[in-house]
Amino acid sequence: MVDHLTIVKHPLVQHKLTLMRKVSTPTALFRQLLREISQLLAYEITRNLETKNLKIETPLVEMDSPELAGRKLALISILRAGNGLLDGMLELIPSARVGFVGLYRDEKTLQPVQYYFKVPDLLEERMVIAVDPMLATGNSSVAAINLLKEAGAKNISFLCLLAAPEGVENMRKAHPDVKIVTAALDSHLNENGYIVPGLGDAGDRMFGTK
Ligand code: URA
Repeated sequence: MVDHLTIVKHPLVQHKLTLMRKVSTPTALFRQLLREISQLLAYEITRNLETKNLKIETPLVEMDSPELAGRKLALISILRAGNGLLDGMLELIPSARVGFVGLYRDEKTLQPVQYYFKVPDLLEERMVIAVDPMLATGNSSVAAINLLKEAGAKNISFLCLLAAPEGVENMRKAHPDVKIVTAALDSHLNENGYIVPGLGDAGDRMFGTK
């Protein structure tokens, strides 16, 4: 069992999140803030990555110095809003492998249906970080993680910007082994499935669509 939910309360994260929540924040600034926050959240979610010592020479002496051990980690964007978190994370972890999961909601059953799935090989040997800015009902995130597990992933974490209690609970029940890192746990979901107080539709706000 993992410590299921981590809320990153760092003042820089909270300040940037406040700017993102504001309805007056324009698309370009929203995207820039998302990139910056994604790096701060990535810093937190990767804090237990394994390292091994490498013998190196500094200009002065030889020393044993840590480098990342094991396979390159895999970042999995849950389309489309996950892509807004991906760019910043890749700047911080440039050697990461990248995958994409596309899901839409069936109008009749209201269940997530897969339309795209492409992930790096050897998922079972990698730390896998699934990213989606909004953990709302959790239905699509749970479905995405089902697919990642079917593809072999064993060590999965989930990174989001905002979470609703309903989504956290849904994830905890379906995937108690998956650690969630978020910048805030908001109050609730409204009747349309939006996180309250939230920031609106993350995809629309980052891509300038409506
Ligand atoms: N997806 C969003 O983009 N915003 C919400 O509030 C909930 C789901």
